[in-house]
Amino acid sequence: MNIILIGFMGAGKTTVGRKLANRLGYFFLDTDQQIEKQQGCTIEEIFRYAGEATFRDLETKLLENLQSVRNTILSTGGGMFIRSKNQELLKDIGKTVYLQVDRGTLEQRLQCDLNRPLLQQPNWQKNVNQMLQHREPIYLTADLTIKAQDGPPNVMVSRIIEAI
Ligand code: S3P
Repeated sequence: MNIILIGFMGAGKTTVGRKLANRLGYFFLDTDQQIEKQQGCTIEEIFRYAGEATFRDLETKLLENLQSVRNTILSTGGGMFIRSKNQELLKDIGKTVYLQVDRGTLEQRLQCDLNRPLLQQPNWQKNVNQMLQHREPIYLTADLTIKAQDGPPNVMVSRIIEAI
């Protein structure tokens, strides 16, 4: 079985995913880290030199190549689940779990972020708001939604294991 964590930037997908993999004795794979490794540069550099559309195509290509993974926790970039082709590919790979965090908490967590390209602008809060409005209904089509803001990552891990 594979479990796929989806959700907005700052939802804790990587932290929770790593701990979940440890707890279950599964492999762990983070799609952003995988793309950086394959491309030999950072996500920020991909956005800067090749553009967001290229990054989105790299995400889809990666998922096409991950169809045969087993016993893996997959932590995805926040925009990964938004493309409908990716939704199909992810649902073929495993059970999708949405880590749901409210906007205020996300903004607090993201306010000093210097790495995520979509947040490097003066009006980033407006951007977060717009992206959340667009993305939330799509995230909610995941197999499972876990409230992920009111406790440490280990509690989220237990919630996921109980719910699955
Ligand atoms: C993105 C989220 C990032 C990364 C890229 C784009 C998004 O991943 O994939 O900067 O569109 O929400 P995290 O959700 O791990 O920050």
